[in-house]
Amino acid sequence: MAKILDDLSRTFSEYLLIPRLTRKEHLPKNVSLVTPVASHKVGEASRLSLNIPVVSASMQAVAGTEMGIALARQGGVAFVFCSQSIESQAAMIAKIKSHKAGFVRSDSNVKPSATLQDLLDIMKKTGHSTVAVTEDGSNTGRFMGIITDKDFWEFEDDLNSKVQGYMTPKDKVIHGLVGITLKEANHLLYKHKKEALPVLEADGRLNSLVFKKDYVDHINNPLELLDSRKRLVAAAGINTHDYKERVPALVEAGVDVLSFDSSDGFSEFQKEASLWVKERFGDKVIVGGGNVVSAEGFRYLVEEAKLDFVKVGIGGGSICITREQKGIGRGQASALMEVVEERNRYAREKGVYVPICSDGGLANDTQIIIAMAMGADFVMMGRYFAMTDESPTPRVSIKGRIYKPYWGEGSNRARNWQRYVDDQASSRLHFEEGVDGYVPVVGSVNEVLGLTLEKMRASMCNLGSITLAEFTQNAVLTLVSEQSIEEGGTSNIIQVESKFDDDK
Ligand code: IMP
Repeated sequence: MAKILDDLSRTFSEYLLIPRLTRKEHLPKNVSLVTPVASHKVGEASRLSLNIPVVSASMQAVAGTEMGIALARQGGVAFVFCSQSIESQAAMIAKIKSHKAGFVRSDSNVKPSATLQDLLDIMKKTGHSTVAVTEDGSNTGRFMGIITDKDFWEFEDDLNSKVQGYMTPKDKVIHGLVGITLKEANHLLYKHKKEALPVLEADGRLNSLVFKKDYVDHINNPLELLDSRKRLVAAAGINTHDYKERVPALVEAGVDVLSFDSSDGFSEFQKEASLWVKERFGDKVIVGGGNVVSAEGFRYLVEEAKLDFVKVGIGGGSICITREQKGIGRGQASALMEVVEERNRYAREKGVYVPICSDGGLANDTQIIIAMAMGADFVMMGRYFAMTDESPTPRVSIKGRIYKPYWGEGSNRARNWQRYVDDQASSRLHFEEGVDGYVPVVGSVNEVLGLTLEKMRASMCNLGSITLAEFTQNAVLTLVSEQSIEEGGTSNIIQVESKFDDDK
């Protein structure tokens, strides 16, 4: 006979946190939001930690190159969507990895004999305004000079002229030699008031470039998530169908973190795919997966599939109709708490800590905070990021307001890709697991995330914590009745009429 669980399926909005003693050192400026991504021995550090506990969903309407760059610069990662060709996903990862920071390989190079038109074409293609001139036009050729868009006028100069007549030649270019530290390189830029510093090999070949704008960016984004070579950390969604081709291409492009994108990850498909990736790439790349909503699912993905982190959540996503269509799922708070409990039991038994990601259904900042208090190590969100300037969709005006389209990976619009490949493969009738809609535009990732994290830091201080581990340890939660939810809103006052009332 079917088993009925004793507990009700609960959601985040049914809980509130009870404050604990706030000591004088519990100030938002002292709070660290660093959180592990990969499983690790208890007491040791994870191979990779995020600087903020937030990642984006792997969805067409959410995470492309721009989101990857924006989120890594804030300290998290965006999982670049896998419902696209392997080549285009790998190209997005390569772009994120080559974005900036420190010593970068020169992407735009010309020969001295190239024409200004050739140079303009390169500048337009790459978007770069500084181009290295090398003997053979390659990024490791003998360095001859530098040319920037300030050295010629597109509509005044003869575009058939040669670059060598306009460039600043090597003997006049301030440069460094391989071995110079980033600090020394930045100091040279500062001292000589330059925008870019070429770094050369002892034999005069070009090695890399250091840019002033990267230094400024870094100062403005102190939580930026960088790899050991000072490149942004990049993440990608993968599936259990084409991983044998997709994963090697992503690793080649420099991906750091992978995550299986599936509405139900408690499967032998995920185990087989994960073990293949692990055997092939070992610790070179972090591999997470899911989604699960039970202790049993968690154990399987950790013990059998050997995943580095586990995602929790079925049916809670804002565009998700999995529960209605298939009758599977669980209230996100209940699912998360059961999996966290099992994770903690596993840590006690085996001495290994497995990070947990709460995925989907986070409708506001409070729910993100409650998810973290309940023991998530980081949260994954789709709608939240689909609403930002950096999501890859165009803005549309509807009745005078600005929106962006947002659709589920299981909707008709996206379904002809791997996650729902069976449906696509045949022409028989199929059902959708996601819907297609619009969300309002809210601003840049930087702005919205800034506010969310400010609230999270404040709540952590209310609970006497300055690390996320302390936050979970100190968390005492209470279930709220419908009446107390009502009490939590404004009450017994006549509120000045809100212009936004019709948004509700
Ligand atoms: P949101 O943050 O509430 O918008 O939820 C985003 C999450 O919903 C994703 O990270 C996925 O786990 C899940 N998801 C994405 N597309 C679909 C779909 O079409 N059906 C069901 N779940 C989806």
